[in-house]
Amino acid sequence: MAQSRLQVFCDRLEQELRPHLDLTSEHPHHPVIVRHCPSPWYCVGTGNYAAVVAHPDFPAWVVKVYAPHREGFAAEVEVYRRLGTHAAFSECYYAKDGILVLRRLHGTTLYDCAHRGIPIPRKVIEDIDQALDYVYAQGLNPHDVHGKNVMLGVDGRGLVVDISDFLKPEPCYAWKDLKRAYYCLYRPLIAGLKLKIPYAFLDHVRTVYRVYRRLGDRLFLKP
Ligand SMILES: Nc1ncnc2c1ncn2[C@@H]1O[C@H](COP(=O)(O)OP(=O)(O)OP(=O)(O)O)[C@@H](O)[C@H]1O
Ligand SMILES: [Mg+2]
Repeated sequence: MAQSRLQVFCDRLEQELRPHLDLTSEHPHHPVIVRHCPSPWYCVGTGNYAAVVAHPDFPAWVVKVYAPHREGFAAEVEVYRRLGTHAAFSECYYAKDGILVLRRLHGTTLYDCAHRGIPIPRKVIEDIDQALDYVYAQGLNPHDVHGKNVMLGVDGRGLVVDISDFLKPEPCYAWKDLKRAYYCLYRPLIAGLKLKIPYAFLDHVRTVYRVYRRLGDRLFLKP
């Protein structure tokens, strides 16, 4: 039954979504722009490489669609194959020509939590740490684990929403730096204030962080 429902979902995305969804990616450091999404499909999130779309009649799944000329589809399929089943990650049920069907994760990215003033419990950080230990154990390399790629789940647990770069061999300090910001800045200074941080400020912090990390990598600064 579930299998045939998934089949219906995949058929409908190929007929209704793929031919009409219009995506563009103007810069690899800025989110993809959804120029048109055929109703009732709707966008649940965008990253720098892809848009993620859902359908109201199929709440269990989302469709991740890579923007034209953005690489990473085949690597993401391979990472999902190697990750198998784990509560902190999604799973891939279908993959074809730049489109993946993934289990929908229900929650709020930590980036959106900061914007909306939603408290981020320590347990979320610990869950993600454990999930990343599992990633290492599968011979993969957690990469690009930043605030838009991790979530506070509706059950209060930590989730990793984007695993697409986990085949990259070079070290990535995003999660270690984010964790440091959580323990050194967020918990002592921000959490109690219930601040709602504007997106413009959060994006500015991301840009400054990118420059800091690039410099740090050149100077061999490790967290
Ligand atoms: N399985 C999922 N369930 C629910 N929402 C999701 C799921 N996967 C992704 N999203 C949402 O879509 C957004 C973009 O997805 P994702 O991070 O995978 O794109 P990306 O282009 O690979 O990102 P990046 O810029 O980090 O490389 C996420 O930040 C999240 O809000
Ligand atoms: Mg992402």
